[in-house]
Amino acid sequence: MQPKNPEIPKPDHIAVIMDGNGRWAKKRGLPRIAGHRRGVDTVREMVKACGDRGISHLTLFAFSSENWRRPRTEVDLLIDLLVSTLENEIRKLHENGVNLKIIGDVERFGSRIKLLIKNAEQLTSANNSLTLTIAMNYGGRWDLLQAMQQIAQKVADKEINVEQIDESLVDRYLSTAGIPEPDLFIRTGGETRVSNFLLWQLAYTELYFTEVLWPDFNEHELDRALLAFAGRQRRFGQTGEQVSVGR
Ligand code: IPE
Ligand code: IPE
Ligand code: MG
Repeated sequence: MQPKNPEIPKPDHIAVIMDGNGRWAKKRGLPRIAGHRRGVDTVREMVKACGDRGISHLTLFAFSSENWRRPRTEVDLLIDLLVSTLENEIRKLHENGVNLKIIGDVERFGSRIKLLIKNAEQLTSANNSLTLTIAMNYGGRWDLLQAMQQIAQKVADKEINVEQIDESLVDRYLSTAGIPEPDLFIRTGGETRVSNFLLWQLAYTELYFTEVLWPDFNEHELDRALLAFAGRQRRFGQTGEQVSVGR
């Protein structure tokens, strides 16, 4: 479809709330975890599709800081699935030149998981075909708070002064430091909310919501989102006339 044409504006960074796994399973009379498992297949397909389309950054919300509120069995199964997926996929991701990053409060996970994350990040750190960021135990408010704490500490230690705190400094202390802001946000599953995802980073992101449940999302649906994105006029506060003259 059209987004492969270089003339058409294409996002450099896509951020996704992968929602609807549970409902996908329920519709089929399956346990919720079956939906999460099928969701992993969609992740694999999306990583490839984004690579094929020359998108440089893909950020996926896999487990939110609020998802601990789910029944214990679902939380345990979800974390097991995340860990086994990471273990099974890392080699192939590396071979394909994917740079893997994990964002979120990983301190909540045990030492085995933390080591797995560290090794996976190290292994792929020099890769540059696609940066794949997985948000695990992530919350936008957590991200802002941990940045505020680090900055406050620097001020207390007199390493920086208050006047030096500006947007670019905050960017550097967020867990997404070094990753450009998302151009396109996709949420599957029909809900039209941000659910504590990248709160600071989404300030000027184009939002796209679809009823399609995550396990049913595919390359074709991605192209629909890319087409919608290509039709948006990103004004960043300017008037439409200013932006079209500047094109
Ligand atoms: C998204 O699917 C996956 C996670 C939150 C981990 P859900 O599990 O939220 O699916 P629904 O919203 O119940 O259908
Ligand atoms: C958001 O989905 C989190 C992830 C996809 C990991 P939820 O399904 O948890 O969001 P809410 O609770 O419906 O807002
Ligand atoms: Mg949900």
